[in-house]
Amino acid sequence: MSAPSDTQRMEKIVSLCKRRGFIFQSSEIYGGLNGAWDYGPLGVELKRNLKNHWWQVTVHERDDVVGMDGSILTHPSVLRASGHVEGFSDPMIDCRTCKAHLRADQLVEKKGVKQCPNCGGKDLTAPRQFNLMFETHVGAATDESSIAYLRPETAQSIFVQFKNILEVSRKKLPFGIAQIGKAFRNEINPRNFTFRSREFEQMELEYFCRPEQGMELLEYWKEERLKFYENIGIPRSKLHVLTVPDEERAFYSKGTYDIEYDFPFGRQELEGVAYRTDYDLSQHQKASGKSLEYFDEETKQRFVPHVVEPSAGVDRTVLALICEAYSEDQAPDEKGKMEMRVVLRFHPRMAPVKCGVFPLLKNNPQLVAKAKEIVGLLRPYMTVFYDESGAIGRRYRRQDEIGTPFGITVDFETLGEKDPALRDTVTLRDRDSMKQERVAIKDLPEIFRERLA
Ligand code: GAP
Repeated sequence: MSAPSDTQRMEKIVSLCKRRGFIFQSSEIYGGLNGAWDYGPLGVELKRNLKNHWWQVTVHERDDVVGMDGSILTHPSVLRASGHVEGFSDPMIDCRTCKAHLRADQLVEKKGVKQCPNCGGKDLTAPRQFNLMFETHVGAATDESSIAYLRPETAQSIFVQFKNILEVSRKKLPFGIAQIGKAFRNEINPRNFTFRSREFEQMELEYFCRPEQGMELLEYWKEERLKFYENIGIPRSKLHVLTVPDEERAFYSKGTYDIEYDFPFGRQELEGVAYRTDYDLSQHQKASGKSLEYFDEETKQRFVPHVVEPSAGVDRTVLALICEAYSEDQAPDEKGKMEMRVVLRFHPRMAPVKCGVFPLLKNNPQLVAKAKEIVGLLRPYMTVFYDESGAIGRRYRRQDEIGTPFGITVDFETLGEKDPALRDTVTLRDRDSMKQERVAIKDLPEIFRERLA
């Protein structure tokens, strides 16, 4: 059953994202470009932490996966062979009353009559296929011969480079090729903030195998991917695995799972894990006339490998991380009176800023110098934010709101003024429990190494 939508919560999240510099509408000062988003100073850090962690566990921590970074501009033959030129389309319907272009599955039905979701109009055109690819021209000519496409998925460049990468990496089956990069789809109705955009990023792995390994590896990758989400702070209880039914699956796929998350606007897909058989490599082999076969030294067999593909959306996962992290609770203000606190409870691994450093008073040169010394000590290992303005409680709140898991305060005890035994110690505050502990400055790198692992 789909989770109920929570419009108010989503509105607060969108507003926080803009207010604190996670995500802005693209070209905002000119009225905005629909379906395109810009990530601000905190958004870009969050996105990088996610992509780096994916790359770490998918490529660096494995012997059987190598990476690549393909071009966005794509030769039309690639996308003809893959079936995108012919078939990468959504059925589109126009509302003659309000002139909206609608995806057929977005119509609402009342008393058995289909209506426009915007104006309730019933005067609708018949559905027609709308190709989602962005077409462009390469070079000075703008005729048929110069057409190229912005890639609609990163996967195709992996298939097209399969042979080159096999040769240079000298991997044996099963092995994978991973890629993170931009993809473009001219979505009919971009919506739900960044969830459905026209420009977005994917993290894709094409894991090549023998035909008999396909179904088993599909299960293996589904489980690996679920573990990944749990390890970045998305609880298993909010993740759902949908087995895509036969009639909705691509004709070449022998099995596909969608990993879904309970967003405030309902349960929606984060990632697809698909067993694509040998379809892509076979299509490119046929269309290019170049062999994309694998030669098995042991059995002396030559065959086109099969592939299992976990394909995740960077922007959707970033949105899920923010939605999951958003929370409101009660915290005492300066005078001890309880007030509402907005806090992003990011997993420390994902948090854009790991630690705030605060001198208790900004007009005390010794406190300021000590705080800056700590910033210098920690910066080589993590993102640190130095803040000396305003009451200390306000400074904590500002960091809570952007999800900074730790706060260090340099006070008079740090200077050894009250008790010489406390010289060169600071308070370390935990964002979630708001508890503070006294720790030695020299121990900070080790403490963070453990807590951010
Ligand atoms: N290579 C397979 C493939 O591209 P997909 O299910 O079309 O499969 C994979 O896309 C993932 O890419 C989705 O699960 C989603 O996370 C992300 N994605 C697809 N379309 C998107 C869009 N319009 N906006 C944001 N993310 C999108």
